Amino acid sequence: MTPNSSPADLSAFWMPFTANRDFKEAPRLLASASGVYYKDVNGRQILDGTAGLWCVPLGHAQPKIVKAVQDMVAKLDFAPTFQMGHPAAFELAERLKQYTNNRFSKVFYTNSGSESVDTALKMALAYHRARGDGTRTRLIGRERGYHGVGFGGISVGGISGNRKTFGSLLTGVDHMPHTHNLEKNAYTKGQPEWGGHLADELERIVALHDASNIAAVIVEPVAGSTGILVPPKGYLKRLRELCTKHGILLIFDEVITGFGRLTTPFAFDYFDVEPDMVTTAKGLTNGVVPMGAVFVKQHIYDAFMDWPTGIELFHGYTYSGHPLACAAGLASLDIFENDGILEHAKGIAGYWEDAVHSLKGLPHVVDIRTIGLIAGIELASIAGKPGARAFDAFKQAFNDGILIRTTGDIIALSPPLVFEKSHIDELIGKLSGILQTLD
Ligand SMILES: Cc1ncc(COP(=O)(O)O)c(C=O)c1O
Repeated sequence: MTPNSSPADLSAFWMPFTANRDFKEAPRLLASASGVYYKDVNGRQILDGTAGLWCVPLGHAQPKIVKAVQDMVAKLDFAPTFQMGHPAAFELAERLKQYTNNRFSKVFYTNSGSESVDTALKMALAYHRARGDGTRTRLIGRERGYHGVGFGGISVGGISGNRKTFGSLLTGVDHMPHTHNLEKNAYTKGQPEWGGHLADELERIVALHDASNIAAVIVEPVAGSTGILVPPKGYLKRLRELCTKHGILLIFDEVITGFGRLTTPFAFDYFDVEPDMVTTAKGLTNGVVPMGAVFVKQHIYDAFMDWPTGIELFHGYTYSGHPLACAAGLASLDIFENDGILEHAKGIAGYWEDAVHSLKGLPHVVDIRTIGLIAGIELASIAGKPGARAFDAFKQAFNDGILIRTTGDIIALSPPLVFEKSHIDELIGKLSGILQTLD
């Protein structure tokens, strides 16, 4: 097999979150990537409207990241971080701390968003216990939330398909209602006016269980995987107030919103709401080497440091702080800080918003929502076949040379932050054509 040719047999790879039988009948195989384009195995260019899986904000094959990873693999291919370390892991943690504007002083490395979520949930439980508040064990998530695929993440997550076949999950979990409401908020640009009061549902859960039993609330500031749910005005601030009032930790899952997606470093900057912990992954290494990180407030770390001596948190991954990931993370931060990435993203966000909202009125479109460089385009479902219409659009898009993502009947767009206006025109122009001919 040459690097660009299709493999003869696709059967052995059990593909994640994929309709395997459908895919293997008509595979979509990517061979290379550069800038904001992929090439498939037939040499066709495909414009990346989703930054890979939200994880390539700086564009593909970014030369400085490629070089940093190449240099590191030749120098230090692997180093344990249990009871020892290597300089890049400490350097990256310090740089990440600074990138949060020193709001978070500790960084715990993982390899993915799912691991970041499980890490944060475990930290929340252990934190309360370390403070002598060990009855605080309940975890609160939200309907339609996505927090990865670990048992912790699917338990606090609120997507039925991700939960229903996996048994009893974690016990002691409650869910707040989601904030999606087409009747009130359809076609909103930015944050919807209606729905801030839904944060008060936390009071209902507190009244039921008593705050002394609740450890943490976890939410995505902007929910991505259930189709771009933008928080209503006032919602996140109210959640913060209630968590503070009841001594409950607030965790923001910023796996997709971290690293510039909303044109600020993090969503907590954009919404001006400070959680106690932040889970990150995707943009951290520009997708080049898997890595996640949990950002933690000093007071949480301090609670663990009262042990007389020894290991304070019995948790970690073999590849926590992998040298190649650290090299990719440091190079990515250099680019974020030196190449005006967020300024560029801010500069095109208005154009993006207008372009996406120009799709209003096309067949089957029932809502469009945008924030930062994110867009959700909701389609009416075909009766009895939820998700089928958007999935047809996805397949058609791939054939037409654009990569979009769909969840249910919602098209989710999250282009690399280095998109130019011409790329927006290409993406939205082709998508418009597809929507006009979709059954
Ligand atoms: C908000 C959120 N949390 C967690 C995850 C899981 O990340 P991973 O797939 O890296 O485990 C995702 C993935 O899309 C996500 O969007």
